[in-house]
Amino acid sequence: MLSIPDLIKKKRDGGSLSDGDIQTWLEAVTGGSVEGCQTGAMLMAIWQRGMDARETATLTKAMMLSGEVMSWPREWAGLLVDKHSTGGVGDKVSLVLAPALAACGCKVPMISGRGLAHTGGTLDKLESIPGFDVHQSAEQLRAILSTVGCCIVGQTQTLVPADRILYAARDITGTVDSLPLITGSIISKKGAESLTALVLDVKFGRAALYKDLGGAKELARLLVQAGNDLGMRTGALLSRMDGVIGCSVGNSLEVIEALRLLKGDRRNRRDLVELVGALGGLLLAMTGLAADRSEGAGKILQAVMGGAALLKFQAMMEAQGVAPETARALCAADADADYFKILRKAKHQLDLTAKHDGVLVDVDGLVLAEVVHKLGAGRSEAGQPVNHSVGAELLLSQGQKVSKGAPWLRLHYEEPAPSSDQIERLQSALVLGSPADWRKQSLVQEVLLPV
Ligand code: URA
Repeated sequence: MLSIPDLIKKKRDGGSLSDGDIQTWLEAVTGGSVEGCQTGAMLMAIWQRGMDARETATLTKAMMLSGEVMSWPREWAGLLVDKHSTGGVGDKVSLVLAPALAACGCKVPMISGRGLAHTGGTLDKLESIPGFDVHQSAEQLRAILSTVGCCIVGQTQTLVPADRILYAARDITGTVDSLPLITGSIISKKGAESLTALVLDVKFGRAALYKDLGGAKELARLLVQAGNDLGMRTGALLSRMDGVIGCSVGNSLEVIEALRLLKGDRRNRRDLVELVGALGGLLLAMTGLAADRSEGAGKILQAVMGGAALLKFQAMMEAQGVAPETARALCAADADADYFKILRKAKHQLDLTAKHDGVLVDVDGLVLAEVVHKLGAGRSEAGQPVNHSVGAELLLSQGQKVSKGAPWLRLHYEEPAPSSDQIERLQSALVLGSPADWRKQSLVQEVLLPV
């Protein structure tokens, strides 16, 4: 058996680590018998030399087996599903998709994350609902899935401890952006959920973490391969992430938008509906609950527009600690209800107006996300609180005619107030053109089916 320094040298010199090598290294990492500098050196060697498909599969499986692997009642076999997104702006898909899948008969133990860089996190969004508790034990998770069918929680302490150690080390050694390490990190956690099917929303574009389609596609292929290697039917969408998904950015504003869609109001959110349908449709097709993706998308959107998903969302909130009267009030029939009676409203609102006439052809989602992040919607350091009430609402939809002076963006802020630079940046995010400049575009560029 090679020593840890020999394993590091082997990878440093471009060698391929055997299955035994990878297991030895990972056991030493989780067992605490390696020095932090050795972990960093190996991560850097992997970052530089990469890993082939076999090494990536072995690493992913070894990471998954470093902690608890969930077990489910036999009668749920074939029904366990989840989705992972590489991070977007205004991405409230999970808030709508998890209950819609539950309404279609799936069991959805959705393990989500917090905001990363300029992108938002589902857990932060849900925590803007008073009482919502994202910390649930494995037993509580099973109980919620049994009664409701879906829950959205943070990673439990016992799941994939190797990732906690490696992720923290990657963060301080400049090795986050390594495709095999990203693959191992994401797929090991999904594997530990013992899923039947997993769908990945791999985003590319200006406001995505991966800017170009080629890079996103390479990651998507690796993720799909690694998920299928672990026995989960895994597929992926490659989706464009240039603007804002739907019409709001910011934690409580996105919860409100998700509730509006769950009440059947799809105005100004064609792209959100497209993603929910495409991701859910692929999952239902992979589980066999639908004959194909198109039938699956139809079932999902029926659950959303018909109110069944809203009932699941209400039940999920109650099961995760929200007072029944609060959950009931948020889910009461009126899509335009005054949600701010329950969710905190920012102290200040400021409407930005168009500087000239035109047709709304584009909004730069990266600029919007960066500004609201700085105003408190996101965190600059792990563990910092976020201000749930900060955010922005788009008041116009793509392709719409705009007159000079018309409000196009409502900014919700508290402390700090936006600087004149930030206001100018926000104004630069609005692109007005002529009708010929605007083209209706699908977000979904490509679908990778299970291998
Ligand atoms: N999300 C994860 O869980 N891990 C990564 O490495 C990147 C995104």
